Amino acid sequence: MKIVVAATGASGALYTQRLLDNLTGHEIHYIVTDHAHEVQKLELPGDLKLPANAIRYDENGSMFVPFVSGSAKFDAMVIIPASMGTVGRIATGVSDSTVARAADVFLKERRQLILVPREAPYNLIHLRNMAALTEAGATIIPASPSFYSKPTTITGLVDTIIARVLDHLGIANQLTKRWQSI
Ligand SMILES: Cc1cc2nc3c(=O)[nH]c(=O)nc-3n(C[C@H](O)[C@H](O)[C@H](O)COP(=O)(O)O)c2cc1C
Repeated sequence: MKIVVAATGASGALYTQRLLDNLTGHEIHYIVTDHAHEVQKLELPGDLKLPANAIRYDENGSMFVPFVSGSAKFDAMVIIPASMGTVGRIATGVSDSTVARAADVFLKERRQLILVPREAPYNLIHLRNMAALTEAGATIIPASPSFYSKPTTITGLVDTIIARVLDHLGIANQLTKRWQSI
């Protein structure tokens, strides 16, 4: 698959790292916002480690990257974590950054767009923006890990969300024990 992975400035840089770690074998175009990079340096020991199969784009203001045009063929885009700022920009059609424009393109081309928002609590504007994105065809997978598989590490907990993202992308994975499986 050809996938855009975007990291924005919400807490949860480990979600970005674990998704990238589990997309080997796919063509990954990785875009990071300035605030996301700040959060990554704060939350990840030694910063984010980019896998060899990922092409990195650092400039979130550029429209000279392939995935901001519908003419470039991509399969899916995942925004992980998704800040409420980015959620708001996409929900209101403000395509003033690479990430927001790319998401706008994926929606208009009816391509898969997955957002993993992280905020607590949500205000009404956040909720309305997420409802608008859902109505426009995006999938919201909140960064709300589950505990019934009894993860014993933070990575294990994070992987309960990564497994859902991979499931929605149609990528086989055994990251977590599935409910009622042996
Ligand atoms: C350490 C840190 C943690 C943050 N956590 C969140 C968060 O969990 N959710 C959120 O919506 N914004 C969070 N923010 C604020 C965003 O980074 C800020 O709104 C920024 O403008 C988002 O821009 P971006 O979406 O272009 O990256 C955090 C900022 C910092 C510095």
